[in-house]
Amino acid sequence: MHRLVNAVGMKAVTLMLALGVAAGAQMPVSHSTVAATLVQTPPMGWNSWNHFKSKVTQQDVMDAADALVKSGMRDAGYVYVNIDDTWEAERDAQGVLHTNSKFPDMKALGEYVHARGLKFGIYSSPGPLTCAKYAASLGHEQQDADLYASWGVDYLKYDLCSFRTNMTEAQAAHPEDTELANRMMRQSYVTMRAALDKTGRPIVLSLCQYGWDNVWAWGASVGGNLWRTTGDIRDTYDSMTGIGFSQAGLAKYAGPGHWNDPDMLEIGNGGMTADEYRTHMSLWAMLAAPLIAGNDLSKMTDETKGILMNRGVIAIDQDSLGRQGDRVRADGPQEVWSKPLAGGGLAVGLFNRGSWNQTMSVSLKELGVKNAKAIVNVWTGEKLDTKGGVTAVVPKHGVLLLRITE
Ligand code: GLA
Repeated sequence: MHRLVNAVGMKAVTLMLALGVAAGAQMPVSHSTVAATLVQTPPMGWNSWNHFKSKVTQQDVMDAADALVKSGMRDAGYVYVNIDDTWEAERDAQGVLHTNSKFPDMKALGEYVHARGLKFGIYSSPGPLTCAKYAASLGHEQQDADLYASWGVDYLKYDLCSFRTNMTEAQAAHPEDTELANRMMRQSYVTMRAALDKTGRPIVLSLCQYGWDNVWAWGASVGGNLWRTTGDIRDTYDSMTGIGFSQAGLAKYAGPGHWNDPDMLEIGNGGMTADEYRTHMSLWAMLAAPLIAGNDLSKMTDETKGILMNRGVIAIDQDSLGRQGDRVRADGPQEVWSKPLAGGGLAVGLFNRGSWNQTMSVSLKELGVKNAKAIVNVWTGEKLDTKGGVTAVVPKHGVLLLRITE
């Protein structure tokens, strides 16, 4: 496997020319007319990686599809069923990629997913290999896009992985051309966007390159519908909040059809308390983040279901205005975030990052609200006094999430 990466890497100059990003070229842009019509609110669904990792099988994905329906998650908006890495086998003599023995019939799987009113997602890389070192799409973009379309794929997560080696080696060979690696990366997305569009199937393109080169500033211009802004999430409070609270300042880059992606949910995977998972869900909703569950849906507790399916929290994430929220204030471990909502009004999160319960306050004045008609505690549904502001004890690592109507 490593030999393959090196072999492709050594041909970096040829590859660079083949990609059409020779010295002095402009940054590649997509002319897709499809991309902007997709995901007008942040995508919601499930992905196999966070729980199943490389062990995922076709049966696991079928079970997830069934569980989305049975639990009520589909009806709450979770419609994408996304297979992550490790479904791939080798290419045949014609270059057609095959599935490995864990996925005996991808077309049947796509039909199974669609028959339940759900959408089907798959995973690849613009390099020669995926992150788990399975075959990926370099030089086979149209062939792969056609294959996905023949399986009924609606969503592609395109993970940079081994293409970084190609970029780094080409860059090392041309140190004078300081933007070469970045042009190659952007071109790889433009190429796949065009290949997807050519299939005639509207396919969401999810970029995964961990925030490299401020992807939020250009992800939409290469035809991306969402882009990961950070490294991989883990099922711990520190990892989740490290990612979530680092998203301050990125709001202006998100909107209908193009979203910042702080990675998939860990809710229900067991590494955090219920208050911490409510913080996870609340913060992702405030960020207008994709809500892609990453747990074993066939074994969910009522508590996990209650967190993933709280309609008020989902409504904040899915608000039709499509504005990402941002930080209003951080005072040590206390953070206040707000998100404008359609029709006026705001979602407001009072987050306690400390490891003890704390009293937190916010005034309507600070939030720019002149006249609040209603203030609701979103997690409990309780209506709060609309005068002046809100003061409450917020549990350690917890959140008070409010919906304010003006
Ligand atoms: C990278 C991605 C993860 C996952 C794995 C699969 O680490 O960031 O989300 O897709 O690859 O190998």
